[in-house]
Amino acid sequence: MTYALVVVANRLPVDVTVEEDGSTSWSRSPGGLVSALEPVMQAADGAWVGWAGKPDVDVEPFDGDGMRLVPVALSEDEVRDYYEGFSNDTLWPLCHDVISPPEFHRRWWDAYRKVNRRFAEAAAAQAAEGGTVWVQDYQLQLVPAMLREIRPDLRIGYFHHIPFPPLEIFAQLPWRRQVVEGLLGADLIGFQRAGDAANFVRVVRRLTDLTTKGQVVHCPGAEGAPGREVRAAAFPISIDSARFDALARRDDVRARAREIRRDLGDPRVLLLGVDRLDYTKGIRHRIKAYGELLEEGRLDVPDAALVQVASPSRENVEAYQQLREEVELLVGRINGEHGQIGSAAIYYLHHSYPPEEMAALYLAADVMLVTSLRDGMNLVAKEFVATCTDERGVLVLSEFTGAADELGGAIMVNPHDIDGMKDAIERAVHMDAPEQRRRMRKLRRRVLHDDVARWSERFLSFLMDDPPHALAGR
Ligand code: G6P
Repeated sequence: MTYALVVVANRLPVDVTVEEDGSTSWSRSPGGLVSALEPVMQAADGAWVGWAGKPDVDVEPFDGDGMRLVPVALSEDEVRDYYEGFSNDTLWPLCHDVISPPEFHRRWWDAYRKVNRRFAEAAAAQAAEGGTVWVQDYQLQLVPAMLREIRPDLRIGYFHHIPFPPLEIFAQLPWRRQVVEGLLGADLIGFQRAGDAANFVRVVRRLTDLTTKGQVVHCPGAEGAPGREVRAAAFPISIDSARFDALARRDDVRARAREIRRDLGDPRVLLLGVDRLDYTKGIRHRIKAYGELLEEGRLDVPDAALVQVASPSRENVEAYQQLREEVELLVGRINGEHGQIGSAAIYYLHHSYPPEEMAALYLAADVMLVTSLRDGMNLVAKEFVATCTDERGVLVLSEFTGAADELGGAIMVNPHDIDGMKDAIERAVHMDAPEQRRRMRKLRRRVLHDDVARWSERFLSFLMDDPPHALAGR
């Protein structure tokens, strides 16, 4: 059996749990990509190729969630070198303004190539003749070309969920040319913002001999064979907005939001931060700004409280371990100086929570702080907006997120400018109800309209409706 639509992503839409007796059980992984693609996959008779999230889990493909699930096994060494190493300690920092210095190790690159080939082979085995394969994100940038080599009949799309860096930074990568050639195996390369697509096209112009016209790259065919056109374009991703809107209207979720505020001692102002514990998110900058506002008496405990959810992420990577130490030290210091018995200044939670609890937290908050130093999109900002059904609440948003291009109703900040961020937080805290409503209406119109279903429909119709042209004679 083969499939008309195959998604290839580093992770499967389900997480595996390995029991003591070696048996495995699976639970739906909560990511936005899963809810985005699930209906498309179910309607299109799809298969999803991905890693189960634990080393050495070698399981045959199986049916689940209305689609075929195809696990790709990774050994412990591969998890270290391909996932933690090249993906998250080379490419991730390289694509995020080198906030943490990227490490370049040939052994990691070898593992990246080897694992990308395994994903490409798995996808090639699942795709129907003339079918469509949609490759997701930076962990799999070589898959498009590898796949095309095995299966030239396929229509191949790729979506880059994180920023694509400027040439000056991308050029540091010793294997820059191979990565660009890997991506050019696709017919359509999607980015979050127009600026990312422009960065990519500039990289193609400078690092290859290929000709480009606007956002279209011409790849000549081998030995007189017709060439191909590869298009780069922006497709800003979104969330399942209706789901968060519906959660926010549920009585149990609203009761939980009230309970959260009560448990925090009913502060006049509840500030909220929700991030993976990642150095790109500007968590330290945000906490520093809040600490200085307390120091200067512009905010007071217990009048104000900050809840910071920092969900565990990539815990074997050193830069993440170091960040955790720094954030926890800072939180401890500020709580020590400004906390009182029964009222902390910061409630720091190193956990992940289900969507119901997240919706209750968003509902409980007065001010949402998204202060990333660099972020492909930032879906948390959109989740907060979708949850604000009462049109109250203020979003403070970093200019350096993809979301900033769309969410004009937010108060924009440069997270490196601590004084500017303090003024913005103060402004958000004191914003009157009519202004909150005016801004939130504008934000909600955008987020409810441009949801994740539109994102995937737009990408796939762009990929399918405009067949790759054979550029005969060029
Ligand atoms: C970002 C990336 C995703 C990744 C997610 C979680 O959103 O764009 O590809 O899946 O972070 O990171 P993890 O390393 O846990 O998959």
